[in-house]
Amino acid sequence: MRPDVHRVQDYQALARARLEPAVWHYLQDGDSARNELALANGTLMPRPLSHVAGGNTRLELFGQQLAHPILLAPVAYQRLFHPDGEVASAMASSAQGAPFLISSLASQPLETIADAANSEGSQGAWFQLYWQGDRERTLRLLRRAMAAACSVIVFTVDAPIKMASLQLPRDVCAVNLEEHEAPKVKTSAVFDGWMAQAPTWNDLHWLRRQTHVPLLVKGLLHPDDAESALAAGCDGIVVSNHGGRVLQGAAVSLFALDAIVERVGNRAPVLFDSGVRTGRDVFVALAHGASAVLLGRPYVWGLAANGAMGVAHVIRLLRDELEMTMALTGCKYLSDIGRHCLGAPNPGPAGMLLN
Ligand code: FNR
Repeated sequence: MRPDVHRVQDYQALARARLEPAVWHYLQDGDSARNELALANGTLMPRPLSHVAGGNTRLELFGQQLAHPILLAPVAYQRLFHPDGEVASAMASSAQGAPFLISSLASQPLETIADAANSEGSQGAWFQLYWQGDRERTLRLLRRAMAAACSVIVFTVDAPIKMASLQLPRDVCAVNLEEHEAPKVKTSAVFDGWMAQAPTWNDLHWLRRQTHVPLLVKGLLHPDDAESALAAGCDGIVVSNHGGRVLQGAAVSLFALDAIVERVGNRAPVLFDSGVRTGRDVFVALAHGASAVLLGRPYVWGLAANGAMGVAHVIRLLRDELEMTMALTGCKYLSDIGRHCLGAPNPGPAGMLLN
């Protein structure tokens, strides 16, 4: 742990100083500010004199016992940020008891990463699946992940189109994917190219039938879509706007969370990401009904600044902050956190309420 780092934001500055400007731009790309502001703007109600000694942050999620509700989101090409890449992040997450979501676009073999994520005897390796253009290729990748002991599959559906914002260096690539030819574009690069290879609801129904491990859908913001995902047999939802990186002006993740929790929250776990920067943010998301949160850029700042140690420290900092927030709001256990912990919303900069 670095003595000069007291907050996750300190790692942001260290990462920026360490990374090539183009890589830094790729990492920070997107409109993250609105997600962050929504979380930071949520006010909390202090409850002094509550008896919280002996509390904890434990939970059960998809049959797994977790020490805390902070998971590491899938982030592509981590060897861009540190030579030890995904394996360093997976080792750190395992040591800190945080499941690690291996991206389909990982830059190291998924089996090696899964071994690192499962190294503490936990089921820490989860796999994030991107559709591979057709069912056969997608199934091969899914089976590889299951054979590598990935215990949960997270199917990301919100980024069928994404403009590359970085020319990858020659030694960093998506090593787990098969090469395939892009379809011939007739008139539209979007409709005949990208979207000709994108999954549909039918494919989600098909995917559900291919695996018995828990299947989540990541990247839903509309309650009707959450409803459809559960109707397809999925086990949970990750409410996410991909850190603001795909659709400009996409709904703010926290506000979408409210509607989705209201619709399906009593039937399946609803996980949350986009904009979480502090343990207090974790608490706010849980108070809005999330079962757990995924952390994206902040752990990559830790990775870039200090490898596995940096990632582990980021998780620890957030967990400590979450515990402090719980203690000050009178919550002994995660099950004590709820809407009643929220204060009145803060007015925005010009007296306007956010959203
Ligand atoms: C991502 N994200 C992402 N999501 C996914 O499902 N598969 C992927 O390969 C990637 N790759 C990726 C790369 C980079 C550089 C970033 C920053 C993000 C999205 C990620 O899982 C998560 O949804 C967001 O990062 C959450 O927002 P914050 O925490 O970064 O604000």
